[in-house]
Amino acid sequence: MCRPLRTKLVPMNGTDERPPLHPIFLDLSDRPVLVVGAGAVGIRKSREFLECGARLKVVSPEFHPEFAALEGSFQKIERPWLPGDESGCRLVVAATSDPDVNRAIYAICSQRGILCNVTDVPPLCDWQAAAVARVGRSQVAVSTRGGAPSLASLARREFQDWLSDGFSELVDLFARLREEYKPRMANADRERFWKTLPASDLLELLKRDGAAACESRIRSLADAEIAKTDSVAAPAARKGRVVLVGAGPGHPDLVTRLGLKILGRATALVHDRLVPDELLKAVPTSCELHPVGKTGFGKSHGQEDINALIVELANAGHLVVRLKGGDSFVFGRGGEEIEACEAAGIPVEIVPGVSASLAVPAWHGIPITHRGLSRSFAVVSGFHADGTVARIPDVETVIVMMPLHSLESVRLRFLEAGWDPSTPCAAIHAGTTPDEAGVFSTLDKIDQDLARAGLASPMMVVVGKVVGWAAQHAPDAARLHTLGRGGLAG
Ligand SMILES: C[S@@+](CC[C@H](N)C(=O)[O-])C[C@H]1O[C@@H](n2cnc3c(N)ncnc32)[C@H](O)[C@@H]1O
Repeated sequence: MCRPLRTKLVPMNGTDERPPLHPIFLDLSDRPVLVVGAGAVGIRKSREFLECGARLKVVSPEFHPEFAALEGSFQKIERPWLPGDESGCRLVVAATSDPDVNRAIYAICSQRGILCNVTDVPPLCDWQAAAVARVGRSQVAVSTRGGAPSLASLARREFQDWLSDGFSELVDLFARLREEYKPRMANADRERFWKTLPASDLLELLKRDGAAACESRIRSLADAEIAKTDSVAAPAARKGRVVLVGAGPGHPDLVTRLGLKILGRATALVHDRLVPDELLKAVPTSCELHPVGKTGFGKSHGQEDINALIVELANAGHLVVRLKGGDSFVFGRGGEEIEACEAAGIPVEIVPGVSASLAVPAWHGIPITHRGLSRSFAVVSGFHADGTVARIPDVETVIVMMPLHSLESVRLRFLEAGWDPSTPCAAIHAGTTPDEAGVFSTLDKIDQDLARAGLASPMMVVVGKVVGWAAQHAPDAARLHTLGRGGLAG
């Protein structure tokens, strides 16, 4: 049986509606920190702070016996907490057995702008400790926001193994060689060189052939880079490259793994409006962001400006990722960008994307081919820059992209081509995203139904018997008919 519409079954951001915690790594070395309460929690927190080199003060009338082993490494104040103990401290932990005292400590810290954590009372925590995997200088901190501490520990153990399995060694190697090569590379070249090294390939090499082999590979790449930038052909050699990456139809998980990998290496990102925000977070924080969707870029900047921008960025040495909705070659003007790069002598690579033309019907249970109903399909554009209307190809399923401004003419084209007016159609807005909505109709009245539903761009219309099949076999699809706008999302 066909999978029904799945909007609710694939949560985009989990169920926690609160904004995320901001993860940071604090340098506490020689910074004053206060722990109030010296029981089982107090000793654990104290050890963590001392490990990070903090100047630790512990206030409590009684001390857990394990504090004996820490004598001399912290300031021990053997009395109940007094207001003022927190003065000058960067962080405070309130771990006494008296909730009123803990609340009072929190209140004073809040007044004085000191970050406080009352153990096991999430509303009274300005910060939360993470489960930390640490090998050498590499650390991974995991938080489930108190939702599943045992799973945070599981993740910590997994990361510990992963860091130990070559990653931390590779980090040390990078750090050492970066220092060594610093004087031999100009700032911009150095940045680009280290960012664009094939890190996952180097990690594999290190695990397979050892650190020495990996080091000699990095050295040969660095020496080649220096030779390039020193040579007379330096300006050409410093050119970057452009990668056209398809971002998928809207759901952030519908990008390819290769696409994500390249995003992680981008030094400049030129992206469309239809690209999911989550993917913009996949680039390194140092990556330049250039939004070129119509709203972000202004009407007067067209394809030629975008071509000029990617060429300019690549000429400046960037690894430019040109991220487009769906697939770059399905009404994506990727070919024009390739021509522009070609003319400027800039290498271009393509990472295919999941086109909305195929993914959105599938997401809503519409099989664009189906034995006995449809052996062929076509994707056409309803919008033609020269004002002409799409010709309807001789196929059994048609996906009309950008239909909004020409739907009435397109509909007549179907009827002129001999299509039955009762042929089922589905209009789908923003498929695979939280805003998705749709109408289920027939060719004779799809334009009126669509006007009533008031669906906006991005929107597509799927025409063919397979849409009727979906209405029967993917139960939620039928709800488009009765619910109109919002039906898909309902
Ligand atoms: C310029 S085309 C780009 C298509 C894109 N390159 C692709 O492969 O999916 C933009 C049109 O694709 C369709 N489209 C893109 N994403 C969509 C979505 N999530 N739901 C419905 N239609 C979508 C709409 O017709 C929109 O106007």
